[in-house]
Formats: sequence, C-alpha cells, structure tokens
Amino acid sequence: MNKVISKFIDTHSLSVEEYESLLNNIQEDEKEVLKKEAVSLATSVYGKKIFARGLIEFSNYCKNNCYYCGIRNGNKNCERYRLTKEQIFECCDLGYEFGYRTFVLQSGEDLYFNDDVMVEIISHIRKKFPDCAITISIGEKEKSTYQKYFDAGANRYLLRHETANKELYEKIHPKEMSFEHRMKCLQDLRDIGFQVGAGYMVECPYQTNHDLALDLKFIEEFKPEMCGIGPFIPHKDTDYRNEKAGTLEKTLLLLSITRIILPRVLLPATTALGTIHPLGREMGVQHGANVVMPNLSPTEVRSKYLLYDNKICTGDEAAECRNCMSARMSRIGYELVIDRGDFKKL
Ligand code: 5AD
Ligand code: FES
Repeated sequence: MNKVISKFIDTHSLSVEEYESLLNNIQEDEKEVLKKEAVSLATSVYGKKIFARGLIEFSNYCKNNCYYCGIRNGNKNCERYRLTKEQIFECCDLGYEFGYRTFVLQSGEDLYFNDDVMVEIISHIRKKFPDCAITISIGEKEKSTYQKYFDAGANRYLLRHETANKELYEKIHPKEMSFEHRMKCLQDLRDIGFQVGAGYMVECPYQTNHDLALDLKFIEEFKPEMCGIGPFIPHKDTDYRNEKAGTLEKTLLLLSITRIILPRVLLPATTALGTIHPLGREMGVQHGANVVMPNLSPTEVRSKYLLYDNKICTGDEAAECRNCMSARMSRIGYELVIDRGDFKKL
C-alpha cells in the first residue's frame, strides 16, 4: 500500500501536501481500505445506529448571493416563502411524534428573523421539547446574536466553511462576503459553547485537490463536532448552470477520509448525495456517515427550497421521508434511532 495511506490509517493525520498526494494518487483498492477503516471507526463509536435530524427549511429569503446557490438573492426566479412561527412549531410537533429528537432550523440569511424573533422561536421549542436538541443553520451573525440563540436554548450550529482556501472562497462568493468573517463565526460559535458543524462541497467550480487538502487539514485542526459534505450540484438559475456536478466516488472518498480524521464526528449522508445517486445516502453510510436529515418542512414549500437542481423528496410528506429513511437504513443493516444523537466526547 501507498506509504501516505498507511501513515494516514496509523496516525489519522497528514500534512496538506500529503492529503493532496493521497487524493491525487489513490487507487481503487486503497479506497476500499479507507472505506473499511471509516466504517469500522464509525461503528466502534456509534454502533450500527444512524441519527435522524428533522430538517425545517423555514425561509428561502437570503440577503447573500453565493454564486453556486439557487436561493441566492440575485435569483429572481426563486419563489420566496417564509414559514410563520406557528408553522415552525407545527413541524416540531409533527417531528416529535415521528420520533425526531433533534430539530434543525435552516434558512437563507433572512433579516426578517431578527434576534427577537429567533429567540422567541428557540425559547418556545426549548420549553416545549426539553429532551430535544435544537440546531440552527441560518448563516453568519454577530457573536452577540449567536450568544442569544445559545442562551435561548439552541445547542448546535451548522455553518459550512465552504472552502478553507481564501482564494477559492473569494472566487465563488461576491466581494461582500469574506472568508475571514466566516472563519470568525465558526470560532465565535465554538467559544460560546455550541456543538459546531463545518463542511464543504465536493468538486465545486474551480476546486482542486489542493483545495480539498486544505479542507481536510482545516477539519483536522478545527475538529468540528459535525461536518456536512456533499457534491456540488449546478442550479439552473446560477452562472454555474453548465458546470459538472461533483461525483459520487469523490464524495464517498471524502466522507471516509473525514471519518478517519475525526472518528467521533457527526457526519451526515447529505440530501445532495442522495440527489446525485438513488442510493447515495445509503452509500454515504457505508463509507462512514452516521447522520441523515430527512425533511420536515410542509410539502407546499419544499419545492421552493432549492439550492441545486433535481433535489430529492420535494414532493413527499414528512411522514414518508421518516419511513422511507428508516427502511433505507434497515435495508443496509443500520437502525434509525430516536435519540438526540449528541457528539460523543472522549
Ligand atoms: N450544490 C451543492 N450544495 C450546495 N450548497 C449550496 N448550494 C449548493 C449547490 N449548488 C450547500 C452549501 C451550503 C449548504 C446549506 O448547501 O455548502 O452551506
Ligand atoms: Fe424523503 Fe425518502 S427521505 S422520501
């Protein structure tokens, strides 16, 4: 076996140059070795259990204009919606009945949901469901705002770093957005005490193996509790409409590598992965993922939260997704569990 790979399996750590060389030179049989190692690590920490998160996409308004994203502000074809507080709470009620013990509140960067509104929503859910984890995923905010969410009862925050290379970051975002600010947000969240989720897209435009190597090193050093990794998929109303989507193979490889770097990380088999292949999420689990995020949003709004083309499950009821997902997991020998599914500290 390639020396870099044996070193990686032994130490769970490589230099940026070594990560890059691993990605450049890996052979099929070596991918198999990493896959086996990743699954064995995931199983030794979390067993053959998969955590489900109920995802509530509560607004697709966004003030930002990330070039890759279908709900970016500049997309005039995007039909905007906002759930009311009551609708959000109904999603939680329904989700609780289905067995979800983590709710993920996700939206674009929508200024309607200011600190007071968010605090009201979070406090209400916290009070009603003391046994549930609340995850927020609504983008970059001031530290004082993050602190308010935390004090109101939020436990986790997802903010993908998108890329650990400043130059690439600046290429795929408009100049109003800054790499430094994104990184500062992640640090603020960590300092406040959130379980923090970082993450990146695989094979987005301009991305090279060097960029991915920087992502891997960042993950190794920052040690996020969660890490969202999915293939880039073009959206018809963006300048990247004609770009190629990220591949299944590369995404699965990065899931395995990420699991080996952080054996305890909460690693979702993402909807984007399920979108590029009908069994993408299952394969994600078979490469080291241990989380799935079925959609809890009301069916009427689902087809409007489109970050990329051909997103799956946009016509399904929340109950269908819940059942579909447990069936999918049990078919591959895993159990979808009713559990908050917190990060397991050493
Ligand atoms: N393809 C895949 N993932 C995307 N995201 C945004 N746009 C796309 C796309 N076109 C991801 C980003 C963001 C997360 C919510 O969705 O990484 O952080
Ligand atoms: Fe939504 Fe399968 S997860 S229908």
